[in-house]
Amino acid sequence: MQQVKAVVARTKGAPVEVVTINVPDPGPGEAVVKISTCGVCHTDLHYREGGINDDFPFLLGHEAAGVVEAVGPDVTGVAPGDFVVLNWRAVCGECRACKRGDLHYCFATHNATQKMTLADGPDAGAELSPALGIGAFAEKTLVAAGQCTKVDAEARPAAVGLLGCGVMAGIGAAINTGAVTRGKSVAVIGCGGVGVAAVAGSALAGASPVIAVDIDAKKLAKAVEMGATHTVDSSQSDPVEEIKRICAATYEGAEGADVVIEAVGRPETWKQAFYARDLAGTVVLVGVPTPEMKVPDLPLIDVFGRGGALKSSWYGDCLPSRDFPMLVDLYRQGRLDLDGFVSEEIGIGDVEAAFEKMHHGEVLRSVVVL
Ligand SMILES: NC(=O)c1ccc[n+]([C@@H]2O[C@H](COP(=O)([O-])OP(=O)(O)OC[C@H]3O[C@@H](n4cnc5c(N)ncnc54)[C@H](O)[C@@H]3O)[C@@H](O)[C@H]2O)c1
Ligand SMILES: [Zn+2]
Ligand SMILES: [Zn+2]
Repeated sequence: MQQVKAVVARTKGAPVEVVTINVPDPGPGEAVVKISTCGVCHTDLHYREGGINDDFPFLLGHEAAGVVEAVGPDVTGVAPGDFVVLNWRAVCGECRACKRGDLHYCFATHNATQKMTLADGPDAGAELSPALGIGAFAEKTLVAAGQCTKVDAEARPAAVGLLGCGVMAGIGAAINTGAVTRGKSVAVIGCGGVGVAAVAGSALAGASPVIAVDIDAKKLAKAVEMGATHTVDSSQSDPVEEIKRICAATYEGAEGADVVIEAVGRPETWKQAFYARDLAGTVVLVGVPTPEMKVPDLPLIDVFGRGGALKSSWYGDCLPSRDFPMLVDLYRQGRLDLDGFVSEEIGIGDVEAAFEKMHHGEVLRSVVVL
């Protein structure tokens, strides 16, 4: 057992706090990882606001790179000293999804068995719920060994750590879930870290046009840097009409985009995605809605009559062991600009301020350096 500093959301809606936590020594199947960097994702804010579940206190942070410090007795896949990106899909190999060969849907991904706990305060000893089973706004964290994906140790941690969640979710929403390829048109609604990653993934796959939609001009400018060919400011014009117009100008007869990726997580933007796609096109929902959200007034005949596929993308349908090393290689070759997602490097005490900046559209990713 050791004690380290970490960022915890103690109660619903309250600002996060830097506290001391207890990290157990790794048991069977577990690893302790010394965290180098961890990005601030919108999902951390969802946790703090009670939008995911009520299992407070949460140990936040889940987009991390670090170095394995110690492993449990039976662990063979990683060893102390390995540079790893942490993942929240440690495939179990035994659940229904794994058994039928859909490893990217694994319904029983592995997390650490032992619990990290609060070290101080009136609730000392309380078990922490690590965000997405990771909890990496911490000097060290305890995870399942399968959550450690070894990547090229020469890579910049702040950049490649983002593959641990948002950037992988966005790239995968385009390439894996949306099956974006050359010759397809793509629109991405919501250009935060996840949406811009979907833009970058679509550009990497050779799609054209790649249309970025946001209500914030700064986000649209960033999306262009990362590969968008067109932008739509949906606070100024109707995104459905604009997407249709841009696609029809490229492909005669097109009535929308082949793939529309929703990366906000709201009913109104999902509805825009639904109506902005071409006949038999694909909608990918990667934004995470809250439990009370509903899509009102969607005629079932429109669902039928427009055909195609309405999909959700969990973690970009990624397989970390396949996708992380491959994307890190593309980054090292200069073909995928992961540095472009890092807006700022901040300290462990700056997470609450980073949430504020996220609200004001000032950053793609703030990355905590530990
Ligand atoms: N499915 C997954 O596996 C997965 C993984 C990570 C994150 N997410 C989710 O993806 C979503 C985006 O995450 P993020 O970190 O990029 O968040 P973010 O806050 O950085 O980005 C959201 C973007 O949406 C834009 N936006 C807000 N309202 C809009 C509207 N009405 N129309 C157009 N754009 C609008 C904002 O300006 C911002 O640029 C969140 O819901 C997050 O929880 C999903
Ligand atoms: Zn499984
Ligand atoms: Zn995330």
